[in-house]
Amino acid sequence: MMQMRLLNLRNLTRRPFTTANDISDISKARIDKFKNQTHELIEQVAEYHKNIASINVKPDAKRNFLRKLVSSTPPAEPVGWETIQAQIKDIIIPNNSHWQHPMYMSWFPSISTWPAIQGEILSRSINAIGFSWDSSPLQTELELLCADWYAQMMGFPDYFLHEKSPGGGMAMTSAGDSVLNLLIVARHRRNAKKPVIYVSDQTHVHISKCAKALGYETRVIPSYFDEISQNYPMNVSLLPLAIKKDIEAGLDPIFACGTFGTTNSTAIDPIQQIGQICKENNMWLHIDAAYAGSALVCPEFRHLFKGVEYADSIVVNASKWMGLGFCASYMFIRDKKWLGDCFTMDPDYLRKSDDIDLGSLQLAFGRDNRALRMFFYVSQYGVSGVQSMIRKHVELAKILENLIKNDDRFEFCTKREFALLVFRMKGDDQKTTELIGKLKERKDIFVLGTKLEGRPVIRLSMNSEYLEEEHIHRAWEIIASLA
Ligand SMILES: Cc1ncc(COP(=O)(O)O)c(C=O)c1O
Repeated sequence: MMQMRLLNLRNLTRRPFTTANDISDISKARIDKFKNQTHELIEQVAEYHKNIASINVKPDAKRNFLRKLVSSTPPAEPVGWETIQAQIKDIIIPNNSHWQHPMYMSWFPSISTWPAIQGEILSRSINAIGFSWDSSPLQTELELLCADWYAQMMGFPDYFLHEKSPGGGMAMTSAGDSVLNLLIVARHRRNAKKPVIYVSDQTHVHISKCAKALGYETRVIPSYFDEISQNYPMNVSLLPLAIKKDIEAGLDPIFACGTFGTTNSTAIDPIQQIGQICKENNMWLHIDAAYAGSALVCPEFRHLFKGVEYADSIVVNASKWMGLGFCASYMFIRDKKWLGDCFTMDPDYLRKSDDIDLGSLQLAFGRDNRALRMFFYVSQYGVSGVQSMIRKHVELAKILENLIKNDDRFEFCTKREFALLVFRMKGDDQKTTELIGKLKERKDIFVLGTKLEGRPVIRLSMNSEYLEEEHIHRAWEIIASLA
């Protein structure tokens, strides 16, 4: 049977081509198959999204469920499309946590808009690996253009625009990927032998994780409850002493991170003051704006973004609130030369094409085309469409905020700044811990419990493109009834 199939295949591929400007019939037949199947897949995806609110946001899956449903050995022969479609329906979709679901209110958004999905289909179809201008002129140029679009949408200064400066943005896989690159560059720029970096206890762990992997020391500066912002920024008054101590101990302070919108509670670090201290000590200032950066697309949030003039780099995850889907983290740097000095290699097989080879500006060699997602999304939604989604989430957060405020069993732990609410039950922490436990058991809502100052808190984020007021009321009904 297997032999027969191979023979048939050979006959087909040996068919003489009319011209070299053609592909074989077997390839064309495969493309038709792809077309038909993908039409059906898109139908399935559309139905999934249309009906998403009618299923539970969390699956019923138990650890190791998959091996009971799918063979542990790979299929020796091709599996039919009908079987795969059935697996999508019966195994793949039901056993997922549904991050596009309106009741997904955990962590941060990971919104995958339709244009982003379309961009991904086209990107995978062309599948160029744009490490140099030559390897994909379109990809390189589109990436520069789209990074400039994004920077302008967020009101970044001109020195983060390719068109107007030596700086600019690049789409990386994740904030962690971006920071790994940046930490290497920060050490290289200073020729540091014993690097040490500074974060707060509210900084997302990706920074210290990268530092650990690189063998750098990390100093964690405590946060504190700030009465003005009613949130937990870094206690910047402790930073100069920490730096001084490290210098005296023979270490090289090279990098500090200020967060614009921390993971726990969207706190905003005193980035301007951290920046001044970095400047005095010839250190790199990085701004982690992974979540809240995209809020700057709405000008009403820009007054919160202070200290950008000191930044050497900024990371914003367009995969989060922006709607590009994972992975798409934009790394903006003030001077691309710093990356080039660190990462440019010149092997014979890399035909240097121009002054801009993006693969020479990063640790990894190959580059995926993520700019198509941004291009399709911003083209089809417009800046106004992006603003509408963000503003809608903020308005919905205000509705929930009022519902919580009117229930005297609850209190807020921080002030809402964007579309995240952090609250707890008044009195004994045990009550909040129990409520978090009950919420964790629920399949119809996905909320996160975390800790602030060691105390349990409930953290609820507006995350879905499909989120409406009804879902907010439903969420509150569930929480209030379990409390
Ligand atoms: C504020 C902040 N920074 C960074 C990250 C890490 O992002 P990534 O998964 O892209 O590395 C997160 C993740 O949610 C985050 O909340």
